[in-house]
Amino acid sequence: MLERAPLFQGLSRAHLRRLAAASAVRRVRPGTELVKEGVPGSVFYVILTGTAKVTRNSRTLKRLGPDDFFGEMAVLTKEPRTATVVAETPMECLTLTAAGLRTAMGRDPSIAVRLLSTLADRLAGLDRRFDV
Ligand code: CMP
Repeated sequence: MLERAPLFQGLSRAHLRRLAAASAVRRVRPGTELVKEGVPGSVFYVILTGTAKVTRNSRTLKRLGPDDFFGEMAVLTKEPRTATVVAETPMECLTLTAAGLRTAMGRDPSIAVRLLSTLADRLAGLDRRFDV
């Protein structure tokens, strides 16, 4: 499962095995709030199946689906969650703790580069929304 996610592509077998040992699979029903805007959080999610809606101040920012990830911002910045993410369908997500994600990024900088590129896009998007 890990191997299929673009975020983890190109990782060695040994690294994938260590990553699998550090992660868990969370299955949720539609309507489940996975992360909540303004609340601190230390779990990072990669969507395996299903879709979720990202909202901020009750406005929809984005829909996320398989292979997308979320929760990286609070995990990397240690600031509260920037948005709320709610399951729209039944979902299966791979979860990693902050420590697990940091270890994975340290072992394989390509994970960090992919994460940072998405993080930068999302931060730019949040900035634009607040430009008046
Ligand atoms: P975090 O702030 O930890 O929790 C909410 C998550 O929503 C955030 O991390 C990102 O993963 C995600 N998110 C925030 N803004 C956007 C956006 N513009 N597009 C997609 N996802 C976003």
